[in-house]
Amino acid sequence: MNLHPHDTGTATGTGEGGQRAVPDTLIKLDGIKKVFLTDEVETHALSEVHFDIHRAEYVSISGPSGCGKSTLLSILGLLDTPSGGSYLLNGRQVEDISAAERARIRNKEIGFIFQAFNLIGDLNVFENVELPLTYRDGMGKGERRDRVQWALERVGMAHRLRHYPAQLSGGQQQRVAVARALVGQPSILLADEPTGNLDSKNGEAVMTLLDELHKGGATICMVTHDPRYADFAQRKIFMFDGRVVDEDTMHRLRKEEDARLFRRAETA
Ligand SMILES: Nc1ncnc2c1ncn2[C@@H]1O[C@H](COP(=O)(O)OP(=O)(O)OP(=O)(O)O)[C@@H](O)[C@H]1O
Ligand SMILES: [Mg+2]
Repeated sequence: MNLHPHDTGTATGTGEGGQRAVPDTLIKLDGIKKVFLTDEVETHALSEVHFDIHRAEYVSISGPSGCGKSTLLSILGLLDTPSGGSYLLNGRQVEDISAAERARIRNKEIGFIFQAFNLIGDLNVFENVELPLTYRDGMGKGERRDRVQWALERVGMAHRLRHYPAQLSGGQQQRVAVARALVGQPSILLADEPTGNLDSKNGEAVMTLLDELHKGGATICMVTHDPRYADFAQRKIFMFDGRVVDEDTMHRLRKEEDARLFRRAETA
C-alpha cells in the first residue's frame, strides 16, 4: 500500500540528476471574497484573497481572531462557497459544480482536522476512521480494513481500535482524528487550530505527527494562533481583516488596532 497520504508520486520525488521536481499547484485562489448576511448586516469575512498552495507544501495561516481564517479553510475544504473569485483545486474550477459532486470531491481530496476533534462518540476508533470510506463507491470491507489499519498505524493508535472517544485522552483523540483525515489518502490536509484544545505536550505531539506526514509527502494547510507551531510550516501566511498580508504589514496593522482600542478605552 502506498504510504503517502496522497497518490501524486511526483511531488516528493526527485527529477533527473537528483534535482527536486518542480511542485505543481494544488490550490489556486484568485480574488476570493466571502460576504455573510445576517439581519441585514453584511460581514466581509474575506476580501480579494489570492494565494497558491503547491503539492507537498506545508503552509500555516495566522492572524487575529475574526480575520477570516476558518472561513478561508471552509472554502478551501469545499464546506462553504465563496461570494466571488475563482478557486482551482487540482486543476478543477470548483465554484460552479453541483452539491453532490462537491461532496464527492471533498470526500476524496480533502482531509479535515478540527480543533474540537469532532469524533463520533457512539463509534469506536476503528469505526470513526472507517466512516469516510463507507461513503466511497466500490470500496470493499477488506480494503477499508487495510486502510484504517494503515492510517491508525501512521498516528500510533492501532492499539486502541475498540476504544470509544470518551476513553481516550485529548491528544489520542486528535491522533485518531488525524487518521480519519488521512484514511482516504486526500490531496490535502486542512487543519483548523488542531492543537487548540490540547496541553502543550499533546499539542507538540500532534505537531510532530503533522511534520512527519509532511516529510512523507503530505500537503498541509494549518491555521494556528501559536507562532511556535506556525514555525513548523515551510511557508507562513498572515491574514488581517479578510486579506492576506505580509508579516510586517500584519504586525503594523495589529499595533495600529491595539493603539486605537487603547485610545477608545481611555476616552470611554
Ligand atoms: N456563518 C456566519 N455568519 C455570519 N458571519 C460569520 C459566519 N462565519 C463567520 N462569520 C464572520 O466572519 C468573520 C471571520 O470569521 P472566521 O471564523 O473566519 O474568523 P477566524 O479568523 O477563524 O477567527 P478565530 O481565530 O477566532 O477562529 C468574523 O467577523 C465572523 O463573525
Ligand atoms: Mg477560526
